[in-house]
Amino acid sequence: MVTVRVPATTANLGPGFDVLGLALNLYNYVEMEFCAEGLIIEVEGEGGSGIPRDQTNIVYQAAQKVWQKCNYDCKGVKIKLTNNIPLARGLGSSAAAITGGIVAANALLDYPLTNEELLQVATNFEGHPDNVAPALFGGLVISIMDEEQVFSHKVAIQTDLQVGAVIPHFTLSTKNGRQVLPRQISREDATFNIGRTALLVAALLQGNHDLLQYGMQDRLHQPYRACLIPGMEAAFQKAREAGAQGVTLSGSGPTLVAFCLQNIDHICQEMTSAFTEQGIEVSIMKLLPDNEGARVINGG
Ligand code: HSE
Repeated sequence: MVTVRVPATTANLGPGFDVLGLALNLYNYVEMEFCAEGLIIEVEGEGGSGIPRDQTNIVYQAAQKVWQKCNYDCKGVKIKLTNNIPLARGLGSSAAAITGGIVAANALLDYPLTNEELLQVATNFEGHPDNVAPALFGGLVISIMDEEQVFSHKVAIQTDLQVGAVIPHFTLSTKNGRQVLPRQISREDATFNIGRTALLVAALLQGNHDLLQYGMQDRLHQPYRACLIPGMEAAFQKAREAGAQGVTLSGSGPTLVAFCLQNIDHICQEMTSAFTEQGIEVSIMKLLPDNEGARVINGG
């Protein structure tokens, strides 16, 4: 049996739409072992009763992608999932499921696929690399697609920054979060985001925290998604006024993440009040960047 620990991720980080992702120290666990026949899936934690226990389970489906690529005919498997990442809130729960599945499946076959091959399998399955790449590698990952092929670069983040995640108590699918986006944007908005994405990566790498407030600005997706997340713009404003270094929508939302050097409790409380004014309850998590990514912690 193998046990894999896989982190939550926050994608986009503002301007890096579909390109940037950062792993966070909130983890799901996938235990997997072969058995004589059949499929047994047990789930604990987030999403418990709503997660499929049959062949439609995405951890199982992702594992099958690895076994098919390796021409391994799996006759039977037992999977136990212990989930701590909230589902469909923009913290990479599906990427964690897919990544956990492929890493466990590869470990059970004694590691026939490289990490780069696993990233390709995971990206084909998820449809975009910005969550699966940091879930796999940890740290801040820049990913691009060239036709169907994914290329990525991981940088470990050494930082004092804490990440305050304010998680509204409603779900938002990435599919719905993409339907509100325009198909075309102006050259001015493209330039706005290119500059800020480059600035953000450099500022995070070199610890130039004063630039994050500019580096996390975005015109490609957040303004269009505000209609799906009542209180988002007010929460951004309150986070900045309370001293956040930067604040952004996490993936396609509805979670917001504030990057904080101090006063994280106060910043999160201020953001919470913006949602409370809209009648929306939230949970708060205080997190840190994870530089390890998915890791086989037992067996393998
Ligand atoms: N980058 C994608 C989006 C997926 O913003 O729609 C985030 O999970």
